Amino acid sequence: MMFRVWDTTLMICFSVSLMFVGADSITALPPPENLTFKWETPFTLNLTWEKPKDLRQNCKVNYTVEVRHSQNCSEKPKLDNSQTRRVQNTSCKFNISNVNGLCISVTVNPENCGNKNPSPPLERSLSRPKVLLVTNRSYEYSHERLKCTWTPVADIQDLSFYYWSHKNETVIKCNEQKIGECIIHSAFLKDEPEMFYLFNGTSNGERVNNTFRDERPPHYVKLNKPKLKIQRSGNTLLFKTEASDLNEFKSCCYICNYTYSMCDKIPQERLRNDCEDGNEVVVDYDSNCKYTARVQIIFSERCGAGKSDPSDEVEYGENRDPKLLALLAVIIIPLIVSCCLIVSLVLLRRHKDIIFPKIPEPTLIFKDILINNIRTTEDLRSPADDRLYVPLEEIVESKISLEPEAPLVLNTTDKQV
Ligand SMILES: *[C@@H]1O[C@H](CO)[C@@H](O)[C@H](O)[C@H]1NC(C)=O
Ligand SMILES: *[C@@H]1O[C@H](CO)[C@@H](O)[C@H](O)[C@H]1NC(C)=O
Ligand SMILES: *[C@@H]1O[C@H](CO)[C@@H](O)[C@H](O)[C@H]1NC(C)=O
Ligand SMILES: *[C@@H]1O[C@H](CO)[C@@H](O)[C@H](O)[C@H]1NC(C)=O
Ligand SMILES: *[C@@H]1O[C@H](CO)[C@@H](O)[C@H](O)[C@H]1NC(C)=O
Ligand SMILES: *[C@@H]1O[C@H](CO)[C@@H](O)[C@H](O)[C@H]1NC(C)=O
Ligand SMILES: *[C@@H]1O[C@H](CO)[C@@H](O)[C@H](O)[C@H]1NC(C)=O
Ligand SMILES: *[C@@H]1O[C@H](CO)[C@@H](O)[C@H](O)[C@H]1NC(C)=O
Ligand SMILES: *[C@@H]1O[C@H](CO)[C@@H](O)[C@H](O)[C@H]1NC(C)=O
Ligand SMILES: *[C@@H]1O[C@H](CO)[C@@H](O)[C@H](O)[C@H]1NC(C)=O
Ligand SMILES: *[C@@H]1O[C@H](CO)[C@@H](O)[C@H](O)[C@H]1NC(C)=O
Repeated sequence: MMFRVWDTTLMICFSVSLMFVGADSITALPPPENLTFKWETPFTLNLTWEKPKDLRQNCKVNYTVEVRHSQNCSEKPKLDNSQTRRVQNTSCKFNISNVNGLCISVTVNPENCGNKNPSPPLERSLSRPKVLLVTNRSYEYSHERLKCTWTPVADIQDLSFYYWSHKNETVIKCNEQKIGECIIHSAFLKDEPEMFYLFNGTSNGERVNNTFRDERPPHYVKLNKPKLKIQRSGNTLLFKTEASDLNEFKSCCYICNYTYSMCDKIPQERLRNDCEDGNEVVVDYDSNCKYTARVQIIFSERCGAGKSDPSDEVEYGENRDPKLLALLAVIIIPLIVSCCLIVSLVLLRRHKDIIFPKIPEPTLIFKDILINNIRTTEDLRSPADDRLYVPLEEIVESKISLEPEAPLVLNTTDKQV
């Protein structure tokens, strides 16, 4: 009984002390203080803050810094909407755009500080620019030229367009500027890891700037419309692409997308990687089919993004239905032939007399000649006789008499007599 009481008391004491230790361990670190920011360039934000004052001497911490593209810090972070960095210093830089405003948050993490939890974040929001200057930005890249286009939103007289060169670490003004369009020429465009653009101007006497971050130029590759050539080679067709601008990147960056249909069936697709000028794909050829084909060049996603316009449609061959031909051969032609035969037979019967006039029976003529000949050999001894042909009297019908049968009856009576 005594042991039991001791046990429970010990147990309770142990639990209570554990609870105290646990409560101590889950205390969070205090947040950082005095967060300030400075735009070092139109695209580079320098953040500085201070270590919380009430930290124990031996407590080592580091910081998580997050910058989100939203001026509303209570909005939940979206994917692909923020940059996060973990640093030991009380300062860090971000290359970032300002057009949607920013929410900056800094958290203190214990690195070697006993059992502590990270601090709640210190947040600061940067509101978005007062005026949105442009919208609808789009890009087309080809051969060291990047064509940028946009739609101006506000009526800004001195609207200027700049871009950031990572190589050069400078802001460069685009000189070839028209309304809503500018072309950047640079050999470095291909190698930029990302692109930053600045639009600025004066609105109601105030200087306004908008900065944007976009993909690197190979994500906006624009290829010329190719030409498709179809050639026959035995039982196959060769689809050939003719395009002159597939030389800027490695050949594995270009894909030829051939779409063709034969005999008006559902279009089929044939892809060819390593697409270059003059490259071809081989397709089985059915000579009873009409082929229609076109080609489009796709810039591989391994290298970036983009495509050409589809080529004009090219046709090859004729549609001939082999079943119809067989049907014609097997049924219709014999049908026509027999029809002709029947018709000609009927006509023949009807107009027999005209078509075949009556000619004497050939057997008679032969017999006649034969008999005549025999007579002549007999008559050779009497040379006085003429060797003329004397036609035999026709005796065929002479024996037929249409008299009544009375004589027959008479005959019988004769016999009886
Ligand atoms: C933050 O700034 C205020 C005023 O400038 C100063 O009194 C305070 O000590 C600073 N905090 C830290 C942690 O340095
Ligand atoms: C851009 O505008 C912001 C205010 O929206 C201002 O703080 C910043 O200094 C401006 N940057 C440039 C390069 O003009
Ligand atoms: C900020 O976002 C939250 C959550 O989306 C929303 O409730 C709040 O109204 C927003 N505040 C502003 C000023 O837009
Ligand atoms: C941190 O700051 C120290 C001096 O203040 C500097 O030498 C060091 O390069 C900085 N480190 C980083 C990662 O910024
Ligand atoms: C930010 O600017 C401060 C001076 O304003 C400088 O001491 C600090 O080194 C800068 N931070 C970075 C990461 O360069
Ligand atoms: C910050 O501290 C954590 C431990 O809490 C550690 O894992 C991390 O590597 C540290 N980061 C830096 C940049 O020192
Ligand atoms: C965006 O640009 C396209 C042409 O580039 C145009 O047709 C369209 O109307 C524009 N949209 C807006 C909202 O200005
Ligand atoms: C920001 O851009 C500069 C210049 O292009 C580059 O040197 C630096 O590494 C970039 N910083 C970050 C954090 O990406
Ligand atoms: C850097 O920019 C300057 C001025 O715009 C230009 O003269 C120079 O050629 C550029 N250098 C590079 C490497 O882009
Ligand atoms: C636009 O930005 C450039 C580069 O930062 C600057 O030289 C120019 O004065 C700015 N113009 C206006 C109107 O803010
Ligand atoms: C090839 O082109 C056809 C027709 O334009 C399209 O439907 C298909 O998605 C394309 N294929 C690829 C891999 O892009």
